[in-house]
Amino acid sequence: MISAYVQRWSRSRCRLSERKWRAVRVSALGWLFATALVGCHRGHEQSSVHPASLEAASIATLWWVMFAVLTAVFVLVMALTYLAISRGQTGKKVPGGAGRFVVISGIIVPSIILVGLLIYSVQTTLTLRRPTEGRVIQITGFQWWWEVRYPELGIITANEIYLPAGEPVWLELRAKDVVHSFWVPNLHGKVDLLPETVNRFWIRADEPGHWRGQCAEFCGKQHALMALRVVALPPDEYSAWEARHRRPHPVSITPELSRGEEVFFRASCHVCHRVRDTRADGRIGPDLTHIGTRLTLGAGSIENTRAHLAKWILEPQAIKPGSLMPHSPLAQDELDLLLDYLQSLH
Ligand code: CUA
Repeated sequence: MISAYVQRWSRSRCRLSERKWRAVRVSALGWLFATALVGCHRGHEQSSVHPASLEAASIATLWWVMFAVLTAVFVLVMALTYLAISRGQTGKKVPGGAGRFVVISGIIVPSIILVGLLIYSVQTTLTLRRPTEGRVIQITGFQWWWEVRYPELGIITANEIYLPAGEPVWLELRAKDVVHSFWVPNLHGKVDLLPETVNRFWIRADEPGHWRGQCAEFCGKQHALMALRVVALPPDEYSAWEARHRRPHPVSITPELSRGEEVFFRASCHVCHRVRDTRADGRIGPDLTHIGTRLTLGAGSIENTRAHLAKWILEPQAIKPGSLMPHSPLAQDELDLLLDYLQSLH
């Protein structure tokens, strides 16, 4: 009914042809559909309006204030547009003259609103409390994955950051190749990773939880598949995670696993990947010392299951075209041995 009314009104006022009217309807429906999809994301694990830290809460409040003010402006402008069209039909003039109206509503009022929002935005940035201490995590952006280092602990991992809940963590961010942007919207704003500079930034999670981050700067073909996970653990569980990941590897290796390790070297995986305390010392791809515990493969492309790992080894380009990971044609028995070995790396 509303659609029929809008159609009748638009036709009488705007004199749209049938073809243009159809285009308007398709665009409006597309916009509504896209907006609805944004609200459907599972569990809000990547959402700036579901903050999980003080910093993200301040940013979310700023966003809601801007949304409210700009929605009010939008409604007002639409109402004035309607009035202008109606008056255009009747030939009535704007009271006080059109010039004064343009100066007040086109210059003075927008300036007040924009300056007000600017002040509020700067003030929000200034009130974000920079922590004075916190453990350091170094993050390096590659096309298209994240290397994560805990320099004080000697831990190197990829595409996931573990941190203790309730404690700030300082990030030192840099890029290996092109500009990337680190963004975990539930925890904080964005910061760029640059090839020549180290940017310092901090995150903190108020409570234990699990969030998704995403590269927020177009960085090439697989920019969209450059995701990361942040896992905040209760302090005691975090200490256990640290202890487990500091442990030299392999602690013990059975004859079967050593056959899998042989396949790893025969297939030249060690040229690009490192496994701590073994001969594998490649620095081109992610460190695999604890690949068995990783949540995803290919920087969030797929979940880390045995079947996905097999596909990632055999046909990585089918999952993430353009990535540096080459196809590895292995016979089934070799593949099984290699999977057993990789999954044993905890
Ligand atoms: Cu890295 Cu986009």
